[in-house]
Amino acid sequence: MNRTLIIGASGQIGKILTQQMLDDGHHVVALVRDKQKLSDINSENLTIFEQDLNSDFSAAFDQCSNVVFVAGSGASTGADKTLLIDLWAACRAADYAKSNHVKHFIMISSIGADEPLKGSETMQPYLVAKHMADEHLINSGLQYTIIRPGTLTNDKSKANFSTERPKDKSQAVITREDVALAVLYRVKNPVKENSIVELFNGNDSIAQTF
Ligand SMILES: NC(=O)c1ccc[n+]([C@@H]2O[C@H](COP(=O)([O-])OP(=O)(O)OC[C@H]3O[C@@H](n4cnc5c(N)ncnc54)[C@H](OP(=O)(O)O)[C@@H]3O)[C@@H](O)[C@H]2O)c1
Repeated sequence: MNRTLIIGASGQIGKILTQQMLDDGHHVVALVRDKQKLSDINSENLTIFEQDLNSDFSAAFDQCSNVVFVAGSGASTGADKTLLIDLWAACRAADYAKSNHVKHFIMISSIGADEPLKGSETMQPYLVAKHMADEHLINSGLQYTIIRPGTLTNDKSKANFSTERPKDKSQAVITREDVALAVLYRVKNPVKENSIVELFNGNDSIAQTF
């Protein structure tokens, strides 16, 4: 059975994804800095690897075929943590994945990471970090899927998608549950081509979208 490493498994998307993957019969290696945050998930297919992303977390990649980077420093931290997590930890994750011959790396990036200077002044450092982490992955030689979701919501899954950025900014949103569903779909349906997609709730099924 393929093992999938989820980096940031205690986060909002990360935890939903961990549960979805376990429910679907996958073996998950959950990289978290506080294992108590997963104490309500019980499965013999779950291996918890407790490590802060500011230290060496290379051992978590052992025997993992897929890696999902869904960690982030969060909106309430400063640019220092954005650099350390959204940029530096993401780049190191790609390096560790390469050394461990990972088959597929899925990066949760962000809408706007393609053109950071088009974002608001407060968002620009974050978007630069996401942009450069994406570039590092693109240049790594790994097979990759980069998902750049719109603004995340905690609404219930709509199970419909679009990769076309809506003209109305208020419509450029996607539920965290649906981002997790898209990742699960890509793990189950790998493709040879690398891809970078913006992702929103829309009108198509995931199979039509990806
Ligand atoms: N918010 C938006 O509208 C939006 C839009 C597009 C993309 N995104 C991106 O989507 C991704 C997931 O979002 P989310 O809302 O699910 O994020 P989240 O709930 O803030 O989860 C972030 C995860 O990163 C982990 N983390 C942070 N610093 C760490 C460290 N030093 N060591 C180990 N783990 C660390 C957190 O661990 P703890 O649980 O221990 O804190 C948590 O598991 C992020 O990359 C975010 O930038 C967000």
